[in-house]
Amino acid sequence: MLDTGLTQPVSRAHFAGLGLAVPDRVLTNEELSAMVDTTDEWITTRTGIHTRHVLRAGEKLSDLATEAGKQALSNAKIGADNLDMVLCATTSGDYLWPAMACVVQGNLGAKRACAFDVSAACSGFCYAVATASAFIESGAARNILVIGADCLSRHVNWSDRSTCILFGDGAGAAVLTAGSPDSGVLTSTLGTDGSMVEHVWMPTGGSANPVTEEMLVNGEFGLQMRGRDVYRFCVEVVPKSIVESLCRVGLKPADVDLLVLHQANLRIIGAVADRLGIDESRCFTNVGRYGNTSAASVPMALAEAAHEGKIAPGGVVVTAGFGAGLTWAVNVIKWTGN
Ligand code: COA
Repeated sequence: MLDTGLTQPVSRAHFAGLGLAVPDRVLTNEELSAMVDTTDEWITTRTGIHTRHVLRAGEKLSDLATEAGKQALSNAKIGADNLDMVLCATTSGDYLWPAMACVVQGNLGAKRACAFDVSAACSGFCYAVATASAFIESGAARNILVIGADCLSRHVNWSDRSTCILFGDGAGAAVLTAGSPDSGVLTSTLGTDGSMVEHVWMPTGGSANPVTEEMLVNGEFGLQMRGRDVYRFCVEVVPKSIVESLCRVGLKPADVDLLVLHQANLRIIGAVADRLGIDESRCFTNVGRYGNTSAASVPMALAEAAHEGKIAPGGVVVTAGFGAGLTWAVNVIKWTGN
């Protein structure tokens, strides 16, 4: 496990602007009930999800990521030519390679910026924020665009009712900029347990199991998940990691003004918040409208929370991601941005 924030840097990474983009196509629980053997009632009671947005044929994730990035830059009042780095947290970029961050860098015309992807599934955005913070704290970069974007609608098996109901597509973005060491991203914790790779994964399509015609015919492709095991793991590890992260910077759960967890489903969010003693008013959720958008969920939730006036300058915001790997990540932020 990697802990940051153990030394006092000269500057820290501050959230300067946020953005969000989703496809316009909305897929409802009723529509899913016509596709697989499920009901609106089952999905709603087990997950809290009512609708999700999905890409139409021909639409590209990089376009959503670019749109979210443009909004974040505009809100931060920073031109693309001032970016030192573009980071995309994604596991479903346009191509196997190059990284989607390269496509977005080109779309934005961020000519000075280097660009690469961070692959940590649903923890990806929080991993990327920790990465960007380290570059800013070291003095190697001043302005970094961090994007979380995923389109798992392209990777689920649409005949598997236990997974296809959970996911949606989207992109969220944040401009991180160098500022005072007294606030901004105070610390991050990144964790991995690689003994649980098979708990939630895409076993086919990579170099171990390239897709064959037979797999396609037999429907042997797409995301696979042991839902109950993932649930148990997240509810155990995430609160512990949040408490440890807060403690490192002299804070406790009672000091948290807003908790923004990965929007996997309402039951996990509720269970984690309960264990921390954080009530609904201090815990942001939008999973009901978007489903689990993987690496996009935390920045999308931050963007909506800021838009709704739920994050005030000086407030303590804790973000946490968790998912395939299994991975988890926490960022503790003293908010300064908009
Ligand atoms: N509609 C109706 N029935 C469904 C269903 C669906 N969409 N999906 C599964 N079921 C059925 C199962 O077949 C099973 O039936 P059985 O008892 O006859 O075998 C029953 O519902 C219970 O399945 P189970 O998988 O044990 O349900 P659950 O209570 O664990 O809920 C999840 C399933 C996925 C909602 C839950 O495990 C969960 O939230 N896990 C975390 C997953 C997650 O968020 N992962 C992403 C992390 S990044």
